[in-house]
Amino acid sequence: MNSIKAFAPATVANVACGFDIFGFAIEEPGDVVELRRRDEPGIVITNITGDEGRLPRNPEKNSVTGVMLHLLKHLDIKDFGYEVILHKNMPLGSGMGSSAASAVAGVVAMNELLGNPLTRQELLPFAMEGERIASGSAHADNVGPSLLGGFVVIRSYHPLDIFTIPVPDDLYCTLVHPDIEINTKDARYILRNEVSLKNTIAQMGNVAGLVAGLMKADYDLISRSMVDVIIEPVRSILIPEFKEVKTAAISNGALGCSISGSGPSMFALSRGRDNAIAAGQAMQARFAEAGIDSALHISGINKGGAKILEH
Ligand code: HSE
Repeated sequence: MNSIKAFAPATVANVACGFDIFGFAIEEPGDVVELRRRDEPGIVITNITGDEGRLPRNPEKNSVTGVMLHLLKHLDIKDFGYEVILHKNMPLGSGMGSSAASAVAGVVAMNELLGNPLTRQELLPFAMEGERIASGSAHADNVGPSLLGGFVVIRSYHPLDIFTIPVPDDLYCTLVHPDIEINTKDARYILRNEVSLKNTIAQMGNVAGLVAGLMKADYDLISRSMVDVIIEPVRSILIPEFKEVKTAAISNGALGCSISGSGPSMFALSRGRDNAIAAGQAMQARFAEAGIDSALHISGINKGGAKILEH
């Protein structure tokens, strides 16, 4: 096998109340990495499409090749020659797990080309390194679901304890990306380090409620639990029209609505595709009233995560 093409999907991290501990994958869009063996030693990025020239081309600094180098080092492979092409199919700084999708596609492609020495779970720490390269923080709530698919819970980071939970089949995600950019590093920097006991209690109740609601397909419980009293009040100030767009989603059939990852994308969960579309159109209309263009994605929960497209 001399070349591989891998796809990794966009993701919604945090899912309202679960900052850094919840995330799920959607079907589309996703990034694609092409990886080929070459005779010359080392690893080179020969092309990146869709990034308007903004991502680093230096293999150490680029998160795709950065994670590949980590994986090669871990496997003690010293004699190698590879070329990489990255197709970015989602905007940078969008809150759609853009850096995670690239890193996951990269690590899955390399693992496949090497004959799958590691399992998907074992690839996770490498993909997390990609997040560290991209944003300075090795959170797993985008790379986890992009790699594994489904709705992911990170029970612990030290040691890493991550699992997926079942979700109802007719749960749909609406993802609206307003034409604004927010850097994850900045969106993490503005967060407070301390949380009141009152807010901790409220957040824990919602985290438990959302997990139980998803597992029992209890839509009212899902709806009541999609409340974030810690992160959303701080970060929402970075998103123009946040309150109005959220209200538009909920009054047009969504169970709940919040910031996707570190924003500016906003997501909603709905029962059934029709509600997800109605909520999305209402959200877009509200952004449009404020003169903000947006892109709309409607998707079920992606159960499989990253996949190999071609050998
Ligand atoms: N949990 C991370 C954050 C996700 O909210 O900063 C970034 O996409």
